[in-house]
Amino acid sequence: MKNLILAIESSCDDSSIAIIDKNNLKCVFYKKISQELEHSIYGGVVPELAARLHSAALPSILEQCKSYFNELCAIAVTNEPGLSVSLLGGITMAKTLAASLNLPLIAINHLKGHIYSLFLEEKIIFDIGILLVSGGHTMVLYINNEKEIQILAKTNDDSFGESFDKVAKMMGLGYPGGVIIENLAKKAKNKNIKFSIPLKHSKELAYSFSGLKNAVRLEILKHKNLDENIKAEIAYGFEEAACGHIMDKLEKIFKQYSFKEFGVVGGASANLNLRSRLQNLCEKYNAKLKLAPLKYCSDNALMIARAAVDAYERSEFVSIDEEILSPKNKNFARI
Ligand code: KG4
Ligand code: ZN
Repeated sequence: MKNLILAIESSCDDSSIAIIDKNNLKCVFYKKISQELEHSIYGGVVPELAARLHSAALPSILEQCKSYFNELCAIAVTNEPGLSVSLLGGITMAKTLAASLNLPLIAINHLKGHIYSLFLEEKIIFDIGILLVSGGHTMVLYINNEKEIQILAKTNDDSFGESFDKVAKMMGLGYPGGVIIENLAKKAKNKNIKFSIPLKHSKELAYSFSGLKNAVRLEILKHKNLDENIKAEIAYGFEEAACGHIMDKLEKIFKQYSFKEFGVVGGASANLNLRSRLQNLCEKYNAKLKLAPLKYCSDNALMIARAAVDAYERSEFVSIDEEILSPKNKNFARI
């Protein structure tokens, strides 16, 4: 029996391929090559460089999983949202594989992939609230029993993860900024640099990180000698305000919705300050907090493969002649 689904993820700066057994949800192959080092000197992802690196990394990973080809029943690929030139590398490979192996093709929305990182080896559940915090997105979602995805809040401008990247860049600390800022914040001693929590007095259920980023920029300008201690104090003050902002709006949402389960996904969900605050919020409102394994919080092909298993069961296939590269979230209305 052919039970395996091969999935490709290349929406940003990670080239990843995973193979999952659709019958028992076990991962039989997983590999990811990250481009963080190559982009770090630029302080962010350079699309043209990302595309070139994908075109070298994806074939080298594929070479390592050729032995599974005769057990495959479908090929899946991330098709939106993301950097077009990066997505295209994965889509071209997926279409070529589907055509040459005569297999159906499945297109997976990247954000749905992140949702499935909560359910890698288990059946997906509905009636769940989800915080999605990544480099490109900041959203609070609710998936109802009809499998519809409702967006309860999203950012008006930058995302939570991206604001960490920009703060690290402003202090010349490299990319990606999330872990760098989180680790640096732990070294703060005085904790006397404070930033206001964005939109604190607004009833709007929305996020905004651009003002906070600007406040950090102005704080940096105040210091002639930006030494390690000051950088740590700024990192701490920034992280407190960024996490405080997420939690402030979330608490308002928790007051309106009684979640039984609440999950957090996306690369920035690895942030331990955020995780512990979420744990406290969930305990306060009697919700069960669901976390994705740390290894699969950031972009990876296993979450795409897992989403593809459910799409396969629903026979949601696309034709290889179809233009599936799309910058819009067209496929994000329901699971
Ligand atoms: O989900 P992901 O791998 O890629 C996107 O889909 O965007 O998320 C990457 C983002 C980066 O902005 C990175 O700085 C952020 O997640 N991130 C963090 C942490 N680890 C990664 N942000 C805050 N704290 C962290 N510990
Ligand atoms: Zn992502």
